[in-house]
Amino acid sequence: MGKENLEFFLWMKEVLGVSEVFLGERYEVRDKRSLLEAIRRQVFQCRKCPLYRTKTNYVFGDGNPDAGLMLVGEAPGRDEDLQGIPFVGRAGKLLTELLEEAGLDREKDVYIANVLKCRPPGNRDPKPDEIAACSPYLDAQIRIIKPRVLGALGRYSGHFLSGQNLPLSSLRGRVLQSIYGIKLVVTYHPAAILRNPNLIDRSRKDFELMLKLLRE
Ligand code: URA
Repeated sequence: MGKENLEFFLWMKEVLGVSEVFLGERYEVRDKRSLLEAIRRQVFQCRKCPLYRTKTNYVFGDGNPDAGLMLVGEAPGRDEDLQGIPFVGRAGKLLTELLEEAGLDREKDVYIANVLKCRPPGNRDPKPDEIAACSPYLDAQIRIIKPRVLGALGRYSGHFLSGQNLPLSSLRGRVLQSIYGIKLVVTYHPAAILRNPNLIDRSRKDFELMLKLLRE
């Protein structure tokens, strides 16, 4: 096992309490599904912030872990909370359409996760301590999936992935370097486009930019 992998496994054990990755070294880093499953099991017993009490389901992530593009939203909404799958409500439908317009298949070409794995009551904004408690799970997902391109959907994910607390208008529309050293495109959250349809053309351009990066 290389030094980088060993450090990652130690981090998973210490930060996330994932111990089974050590069993006989059964898990290889290239075995993304096994590693994600280990993280998913940790998420499904998480009590690191109070949101586990009010959620219906934990929403871990969905899509192809071998995809080149990983999209990161904010937090589950009502439909996601009920179904346990990210972006399945109205905003999710719009997201699927935007991906299709850019020539991307949601199941095949993308992995989708959120900064928070539990729905904040009434879809209120995530709190900083909730983000701090939950973000190691996203961190692990990104380090396991190792996408070539990250797409941030909305302000919270844009701030987290870029490490810059700038207004969304100044983060979007260009290629940024994420805190993971992976190319990042920040765009509007689909729910914001539903509220203000004028944003859709800029959002389309952002998805085209993600596609361009994927083809490089
Ligand atoms: N909004 C998000 O940010 N994520 C979802 O999964 C659904 C709505």
